[in-house]
Amino acid sequence: MSRTVYVNGEYLPEEDAKISIFDRGFLMADGVYEVTSVLDGKLLDFPGHMTRLARSLGELDMDTPVTDAEMEAIHRELIRANDIDEGLVYLQVTRGAADRDFHYPEGVKPSLVLFTQKKTLTETPAATNGIKVVSIPDIRWGRRDIKTVQLLAPSMGKMAAKAAGADDAWLVEDGFVTEGTSNNAYIVKGGKIITRNLSTDILHGITRAAVLRFAREAQMEVEERPFTIDEAKEADEAFITSASTFVCPVVEIDGAKIGDGTPGPVARRLREIYLEESRKTAT
Ligand code: PDD
Repeated sequence: MSRTVYVNGEYLPEEDAKISIFDRGFLMADGVYEVTSVLDGKLLDFPGHMTRLARSLGELDMDTPVTDAEMEAIHRELIRANDIDEGLVYLQVTRGAADRDFHYPEGVKPSLVLFTQKKTLTETPAATNGIKVVSIPDIRWGRRDIKTVQLLAPSMGKMAAKAAGADDAWLVEDGFVTEGTSNNAYIVKGGKIITRNLSTDILHGITRAAVLRFAREAQMEVEERPFTIDEAKEADEAFITSASTFVCPVVEIDGAKIGDGTPGPVARRLREIYLEESRKTAT
């Protein structure tokens, strides 16, 4: 059945939704996006996603197309129209349509597109069994803190992981793990949760912020610093976080089993806490 999607002020059947061939998102990946998860028909950490969207837009001197309240209303209408109980809302803002030129055009209205995806997020084989990752060089640009739609490098990374018989890839730069292709990366050693510190090297995950807050509230020790693949292979546990996977255990890195090769207690506990706490504040 066709979804209802949102394009520049209109709700339309997906097959009728159109964007100009001159849209700079299409020509230059001149756009940013957010993915917000939906559980029980409610949005998880919507304010966090709006704050990051505003920051991404600001870093690129891009206009905000609608207010946060309007954005929330669009999310709700799409959840309603598409009967989303569990899944994702994708939103994309691009600089808009203008004749091709490297300079930013002036006086152009940004384009806004949103659509939903029905998806099982809670009871997944990945969450139950854990995932296998391989390490690959991080070939992305230097402003990974801006959530842009230039996703070819992560797509290539996921394809390399698939070709190697793994589920995903961890990206390595100057000998240290930056993050996963579409998630933040963590290891656990002696009960301590270790994850790369925030900088322009990684996306500032909304799930990361929540999980680290819940971990600290539960008196777990957190250390924010870079780690290597060798250190990860020696860790007791590893896991990833993102809006679409929440907290997901990693059980193998480059063919080496992590711990006993099954999801570890810290990752499992953090997933439980994350789901419990996020459900309480879902809106
Ligand atoms: N990806 N790092 C990267 C490179 C990401 O693309 C993502 C999210 C994250 C986790 O961020 P958050 O916790 O805010 O989802 C980290 C989304 C889910 C995607 O592209 O589908």
